[in-house]
Formats: sequence, structure tokens, C-alpha cells
Amino acid sequence: MQPTDLPWLPLDDELAPEYGAYGSYPTEHDPDLVETHGDAPWEEIGRLMDRLTGPDSVVLDLGCGAGFHICALAPAVGHVWGFEQDPRLIEAARRRVETCGLQNVALVEGSNSEAGDFGPIPDGSIDFGMSIRGPNVTLRLPAKLRDDALWLQEIYRQCLGLHAIFGRSRSTFLPSLPGGPDPIVREYAGLALLPVSARTFYYEQYFRDSEHLRAWLGVGGLLPSETECRPATDRAARELYCRYNDTPGGIRLVGTTKVFLFRRTDVPRPPAMTGTSDAPPTNRPRGDRPRADAGSRRPGAELPMGPLHDCAGGLEAWMWPRPCIASCPHAS
Ligand SMILES: C[S@@+](CC[C@H](N)C(=O)[O-])C[C@H]1O[C@@H](n2cnc3c(N)ncnc32)[C@H](O)[C@@H]1O
Repeated sequence: MQPTDLPWLPLDDELAPEYGAYGSYPTEHDPDLVETHGDAPWEEIGRLMDRLTGPDSVVLDLGCGAGFHICALAPAVGHVWGFEQDPRLIEAARRRVETCGLQNVALVEGSNSEAGDFGPIPDGSIDFGMSIRGPNVTLRLPAKLRDDALWLQEIYRQCLGLHAIFGRSRSTFLPSLPGGPDPIVREYAGLALLPVSARTFYYEQYFRDSEHLRAWLGVGGLLPSETECRPATDRAARELYCRYNDTPGGIRLVGTTKVFLFRRTDVPRPPAMTGTSDAPPTNRPRGDRPRADAGSRRPGAELPMGPLHDCAGGLEAWMWPRPCIASCPHAS
């Protein structure tokens, strides 16, 4: 089923003007034109969902919003869990599931930062998880995934730095900093989710004028509570943005979205070195290095591996190559 074939509910009339693009709702303030120059991110997402799920798949949609993706996917898979913290959006998802007559969908209201909220989902049951512009996987979630589960994640940004223009960000106007993998790759490696593929899509959205851009941003155009909250300066910032980005097609706003696919994988860890310090390597001359103390080495010893556990509530403990922090009760 295509998202465009899904029923539009009376509740959607109420929510769409408020949540707009944030909840995948079309509104009257949408850009006049979206140019993707070929492959579009939503096509990639649909393709990955179609290819990587089957009639027996158990799917989790983290931050499922108003339930458009789950209702589109449910007829083709075994079971779908929708997880969402916003009570109004999950109510819309619930009504959409009922209206579509779907029997294989269960919805859970909760936050992925609350340990107990994933409770209804059986451990080790999810084959395919996804977060479409939703929250990141946290330490609470991996226990729910099968050992070889796939995880699809879309991350949206406005690469021309509207946050910076509106004075809400200290970051530069560059879309990303050079060097090193995307932070999410590092973060997810700590959860034993390794990247399979990552594609970045740039696309342009065109608005008639400054007022049109303001209206779109105001309906949850992905900067919901942060724009236009200091009217005097925000208005000037927006006007300036519009002057610099005025094109024959309208006011141009470049969006960038990254679509990642991760696989849960048991990663072989390097042998642990007990007695080593976390201090960064020094530039000491070669001959001057202290000799490794044979007694402090445990050949073949592995860093602690799954089941993933929540050491002191942070990811740090699982960041390679740092072994489990000393205070972690699971450290042996
Ligand atoms: C940008 S919306 C995308 C919604 C939906 N995936 C879609 O594509 O239409 C992000 C969603 O994630 C939900 N969300 C954000 N943080 C969350 C958290 N910590 N736990 C559960 N849901 C969360 C929000 O309430 C929102 O519905």
C-alpha cells in the first residue's frame, strides 16, 4: 500500500495544520516545488523497506508519528510495532490502523529513553527496525532486536544552517565537519549496530516568498519551536536569508537527508590489555618506550560483549576500544 492510498481521518484535519511536515502531513504551506534531481530519499526508504522485509518480518517503527509508514508496510509483513511518545500522534496512528482494518499492528505509547516503555515488545523479536526522522536507538532498545536485525534510519538536516541563521546554533554553515565518520555511526557501533549503507540526498524546496517560508516553518517544518520565537531578530534573519536565496524558482532552501542502513552484528573485539591507561599516546621516542609488562597482558581476552547492558547509563562504556568502565557492575 502506498502512503497516498491511506485513509485521511477527521483527526488528521486537526493535526495536519499543527504538525505539518514533522508528522508527514501535507499542508497548504508546503513548498511550491521540491526538486530531488533524480533519486529521492523517500524512494530509497521505500525500496529498502520492500527489499528487506518479508511476510514473516517483525518490524518496529520508532517514532511512528501518525502511523503512515506502519499502515503502508503492515499488509506486507508479519507484525508491526509502532512506538511513539506524542499522545495525539499515536492516537491518529491508532485510528488509522483501525480504519485500515489491520490486525497485525500493535502501538506502544512511550519514550525510548524510559527503560520500561519498551516492555510490551518481546526481547529478541524485531527483524527490521526503522526510525524515519525519529529518535535514535538508545541502550534500551537493542535487547528487543534479533541478533541479525536490520535498522533503517533517516536523519534530516537543513544544510544551509537555518539554525545558525536564526542564532540557535553555534555550528558553522557547513553541512558537516570533515574527517571521521558520522557521529551516528560511532554511536551505533557502541550498540553493535554496524553500517551497511549510507546515502546522502540533497534536494531543494522552493517557497514563494519570506512569508510562505515562515508559514511552513511555523507548522512544524522541522524547526518547530525554535523559529520566530524572538520576532524582532528572527524576522530580520529570515528576510536576510530570503534575499540571499532568492532564485527565479522562488526562495530556495536546501535540505539534506541521510538514509542509513545498519545491521546488528557481533563484532570481534581486540584482545583486552589490562593495566593500560586511557591516556592518549605520547610522542615519546621509540627507544624510550616502557616495555610491555608480560604479566599485565591477557592474551586472547576479549572486551566484554553482549548482551548489551546499560553501564552507568551511558554509551561510553561500549565505545571501542575503551573496555567496560571500572564502576560497571558487569565488568569482570
Ligand atoms: C519528525 S517526526 C517523524 C514521524 C514519522 N516517523 C514520520 O515519518 O512521519 C519524529 C517523531 O518521533 C517521535 N519521537 C521523538 N523522540 C521520541 C522519543 N524519545 N521516544 C518516542 N518517540 C519519539 C516524535 O514524537 C515524532 O512523532
